[in-house]
Amino acid sequence: MTQYLTASSPLTVNDLAAMKQRSEKITCLTAYDASFSAVIDKVGIDVMLVGDSLGNVIQGQSTTLPVTLRDLVYHTQCVAKTRRRAFIVADLPFLGYITPVLAAKNAGKLLRAGAQMVKLEGAKIDCVNFLVDQGIPVCGHLGLLPQSINLLGGYKVQGREPEAAQKLIDDAHLLQQAGAQLLLLECVPAALAKDISSQLDIPVIGIGAGVDCDGQVLVLYDMLGIGVGNRPRFSKDFLQDAASIEEAIASYHQAVKQLTFPSAEHSF
Ligand code: KIV
Repeated sequence: MTQYLTASSPLTVNDLAAMKQRSEKITCLTAYDASFSAVIDKVGIDVMLVGDSLGNVIQGQSTTLPVTLRDLVYHTQCVAKTRRRAFIVADLPFLGYITPVLAAKNAGKLLRAGAQMVKLEGAKIDCVNFLVDQGIPVCGHLGLLPQSINLLGGYKVQGREPEAAQKLIDDAHLLQQAGAQLLLLECVPAALAKDISSQLDIPVIGIGAGVDCDGQVLVLYDMLGIGVGNRPRFSKDFLQDAASIEEAIASYHQAVKQLTFPSAEHSF
């Protein structure tokens, strides 16, 4: 029988840092609307990410590039309406942080919509410094960067070669030094993600990055087996063996906390 948490005030960045300190895995799922937010929150998932993956799973786009700040503000407002405990991170959109000032203006709108932190892709150190100076918490995102898909030429594992791996390690340190308080690592070899997670003081959340990150995130629709495209290899359909959506999310939450997800078959 699943035990649900009853806390009534949202988690903070300090709570996430403390979880890393005591080696408790951080669970994270994407969320885009009030109904799913309520279920995810009730189950006790620690972090909800209003990701620009909404372009794929909500809007049916082939990339995240068409997602606008307005879309992200709207979905953040929806998610925040029913959230009680989970920490909310919202994505800055493609070209929404080409200067530090633009990044701060856009991040401000996401924070006013209910986010507690914004996420941006790549080692945008100037932007991170500036956002943190304005009191805006930042989550970095390294590895596979979906907003750079046209540059990358495909959704491939990143950091396999020694030089690319070293660049990821260096960028992770730079983001932490600039004041990022969370880092998302997408599609990198599990051994590299383990190294980065152990070298950094801030929590590292992985997706396709192996079990040794400080936490895990999945796209909600992928882990419910209702994605519009093929489910990525690193994801798992938790609804398959569950009687309800709530049970599927609870099973993901427990699997991450107990280190049974991701297994080798979901890692690189
Ligand atoms: O937008 C998103 O859903 C993401 C994933 C990597 C979790 O950033």
